[in-house]
Amino acid sequence: MIIIHLFHKHLERQVLYLERQLRALERSFSKYKKVTLFPNGRIVGEKVFVTSGYQGDFISVKQMCSQACGKLASPQDSAENSAVQQIAAVYTKKVFLGINDIQMEGRFRYWNVQVIIYSNWAPREPNNDRGNEDCVEIYPNGFWNDQNCREKRLIVCEF
Ligand code: GLC
Ligand code: CA
Repeated sequence: MIIIHLFHKHLERQVLYLERQLRALERSFSKYKKVTLFPNGRIVGEKVFVTSGYQGDFISVKQMCSQACGKLASPQDSAENSAVQQIAAVYTKKVFLGINDIQMEGRFRYWNVQVIIYSNWAPREPNNDRGNEDCVEIYPNGFWNDQNCREKRLIVCEF
């Protein structure tokens, strides 16, 4: 009986210790997130959007994200869109999204070829200007425009 009681006490102390450690870790992790995401990143749910500040054409920014084990930003609802918009606004630059209609004109898809489930087109877009706009940029005001993939835009990856 006494041994069981002592063991129980021991476990109780262990649990209290671990709870304290976990709380300290949560506090420092939440601070660490703020530090690393300032001012280049935003968190929405489990998604993290972040820019390196570099610009490039569609192929280059797509490669940069995949080299970092991420994907080009592909906002799938208005909260995600506003996160990417805020990063574009910090840099006052347009950003390429991970969306294109290269495969079939007018049918915009993510990289996994799924047709987009959310969009935030500017008025009169997408217009495939000069018959040559298969990529999608987001303006610092949050609206989307189809744009030539060879233009250079700010990179924002999602992880
Ligand atoms: C203008 C048009 C837009 C087009 C762009 C090309 O902003 O409104 O549709 O994509 O020019 O640079
Ligand atoms: Ca356009």
